[in-house]
Amino acid sequence: MLANKPKTKILVDGGDPEETLRVKQLLGFVDGQTTNPSLIATNPQIQQRIASGHSLSSQEEKEEYRKIVQAISPLVGDAGVSIEVFADIGTTAEEMLAQGEEMFSWIPNAYIKYPCTREGLRAAEVSVARQIRVNMTLCFSQDQAAAVYAATRGSKEPVYVSPFVGRLDDRGENGMDVVKNIKKMYESGDGHVHVLAASIRHVDHLLASLATGVELTTVPAKVLVEWATKGFPMPNQDFSYKAVNASGERLKAIPYKELDLKRPWQSFDIAHELTTRGIQKFVADYRSTLRRSA
Ligand code: G3P
Repeated sequence: MLANKPKTKILVDGGDPEETLRVKQLLGFVDGQTTNPSLIATNPQIQQRIASGHSLSSQEEKEEYRKIVQAISPLVGDAGVSIEVFADIGTTAEEMLAQGEEMFSWIPNAYIKYPCTREGLRAAEVSVARQIRVNMTLCFSQDQAAAVYAATRGSKEPVYVSPFVGRLDDRGENGMDVVKNIKKMYESGDGHVHVLAASIRHVDHLLASLATGVELTTVPAKVLVEWATKGFPMPNQDFSYKAVNASGERLKAIPYKELDLKRPWQSFDIAHELTTRGIQKFVADYRSTLRRSA
């Protein structure tokens, strides 16, 4: 068990209530959970149904997703359970919003995940006005985080923004820089957006997230088990993050940008190739669980 709970909230990045329960036993607590279509596709019960030759309709897949988050919901603390809308490149804000409203009614502690795209931001803007909590996912740049801040200004509930660290690392860029840059940029803000470090691949990512002082981080069970095995090390004052890839090569720094958070959200340059690719991957994983082209 973790003796001193860190200030940063720890969420499980997964799609299996049994796994969440195991992590809870390991740490002594779980602050929250994040899910997404790829993670739901790996849920053991869904996999079992598929293996037994059953192909799920879109409606059945949604029902399965609902059951999974309903089982997770009572296991976690006040960081809630993030549920992601099924969005393709062409999905409109109105379509995302309709899904978001329904998913928000599934459990009392839901956060609705929308992608950091123009349509996702439009959906978020309306959602926060309707007091639907949101988690803006597939964030890869400071501009996207600035747009999240501006689009959700006035939200009564904290808004989450999820920078994906590992996927930037995958292409040779230092994903932790984006997390740090967003934190720094938000220092001049009103604190309504909380940074949720995501796509955490190893214990060093987790320690760097804690050292950066993000409000939340979402971590796969595998990494949390590794952290426990090492005796739950914490980043001390001398902690310095080694920004290297798996082969030990240095990751390229991502410089800080001066951005004015008071600008209208539509004025930020929010396009990012990895956001587009991320949406495509979620769709591909979702379709593979349906075993037909949806
Ligand atoms: O929290 C985001 C996460 O699920 C994506 O992680 O490892 O697929 O980049 P990864």
